Amino acid sequence: MVTERSAQVVVASNRGPVAHAFTDDGGLTARRGGGGLVSGLSAIGPDADAVWVCAALGDADREAARRAGRRLDAGDAGGQAVRMLDIPSETFAAAYNGVANSVLWFVHHLLYQTPLEPSFDAEFTRQWAAYETYNAAFADALAEEAADGAAVLVQDYHLALTPALLRERRPDLRIGHFSHTPWAPPDYFRLLPDATAAAVLRGILGADRAAFLTRRWADAFTACCAEVLGAEVTYGEADRGEAGGGGQGGDGRGGDGEPRVTYEGRTTRIGVHGLGADGEFLRERSRRTDVTERIGRLREQIGGTDRHTVVRVDRTELSKNIVRGLHAYRELLTERPEWRERVVHLALAYPSRQDLAVYRDYTAEVARVAEKINADFGTPGWTPVVLHVKDDFARSLAAYRLADVALVNPIRDGMNLVAKEIPVVSDAGCALVLSREAGAYEELADDAVTVNPYDVTATAHALHEALTMGAEERTARTARLAAAATALPPAEWFLAQLEALRGV
Ligand code: G6P
Repeated sequence: MVTERSAQVVVASNRGPVAHAFTDDGGLTARRGGGGLVSGLSAIGPDADAVWVCAALGDADREAARRAGRRLDAGDAGGQAVRMLDIPSETFAAAYNGVANSVLWFVHHLLYQTPLEPSFDAEFTRQWAAYETYNAAFADALAEEAADGAAVLVQDYHLALTPALLRERRPDLRIGHFSHTPWAPPDYFRLLPDATAAAVLRGILGADRAAFLTRRWADAFTACCAEVLGAEVTYGEADRGEAGGGGQGGDGRGGDGEPRVTYEGRTTRIGVHGLGADGEFLRERSRRTDVTERIGRLREQIGGTDRHTVVRVDRTELSKNIVRGLHAYRELLTERPEWRERVVHLALAYPSRQDLAVYRDYTAEVARVAEKINADFGTPGWTPVVLHVKDDFARSLAAYRLADVALVNPIRDGMNLVAKEIPVVSDAGCALVLSREAGAYEELADDAVTVNPYDVTATAHALHEALTMGAEERTARTARLAAAATALPPAEWFLAQLEALRGV
């Protein structure tokens, strides 16, 4: 039983490990979420005094939080003690939709473009105040849960202010922050209002250790600290040597070689932990009957048994570059008509952040472009693009297994786990077309066909190259990709961070 100020490990994130829904009779159901953090935290075992603090994301979550009192039961929440914060819905919407997803996400993914350029006006000032309130609510809850000297792991851009706010409340804690996104280079980051840019950096520098998915994003963060705050950045010799070679820079376990940012007399260590795929879980899960059933259904939609498949699986997310991927596929069919009737593009694009008009429009655009390809090229026995827009994990795994080619072409992506998961699960080996702007590129580039995500013609060529790759080469590359992709599975990724934080 976890009591106040008793948790030795506390995780904080906007989206928690469990989501609730109402049943027809007014009851509540709980569904455990996926993702690296959920399986990572389970690595410390059910006996550890751990609490996960997250936000209630909708009315059903709010109701569950109200009914539970202070904390949801570990059983109800899928194995972890969860504290779900009931933040007033207006504050939550302004912080989550307004600041986190419309501004910080856009800045780190370099997504602003005309006519979507930001203008920071009175509305933003109001949203920013909500973002501060939301971060303070997390800091309050964390201060209540954490035992003396406990390790607190704060996640992502939603909670950039929380580390510094928590340090004010509880200077005894070991505080870590982890960014699951890329980090913007200084020239782009400075597009934020000066006070906002400084507040975001200062907030994260409230942590003892700030960690990133790749060396590239960590370097961008330290560059922003130097340029925006005038902070001092120092490097251990060993670490610079490795990072110069484009590697992960150290073993990620917090050795002395880590970069450090010193600002206003405090020093924050900077770490890199490249989250990998959970090979064991994926292999087992993808063999279950719900997946094999879906393989059957997808095969029917693909038609002819000798057809090749180009698979992509994403949230309908602007940074995933789904539309340019479809344009590249169209160009393949136009420029190399020999592929007509012989290939099917299986695009699983699951609705995401539909409260934002720009995401709704993007989801509609994906459907429009796919339909147009089908209208222009389709024949009675061949649908060139099979698009699914409803979230279904078993169907994603089925598509992974069927993939001959995986298309992962984000404009910019913190890591991209799909690029790591498909080679692990694919039945017959799969050629990976990979954007050089995905974090996964640092680990997978050698065995992928790599592309500039803006270059539609180069992507069409890459699809052709991947589709014509010989079976032997494809199998060999897939084996190497799968090994690289599972180098740091979620449990080890999580424990490495915890160990490094405790070692600070
Ligand atoms: C990215 C972010 C996560 C976020 C996820 C889904 O991976 O780094 O923090 O949870 O997208 O986005 P959502 O807005 O649905 O939580």
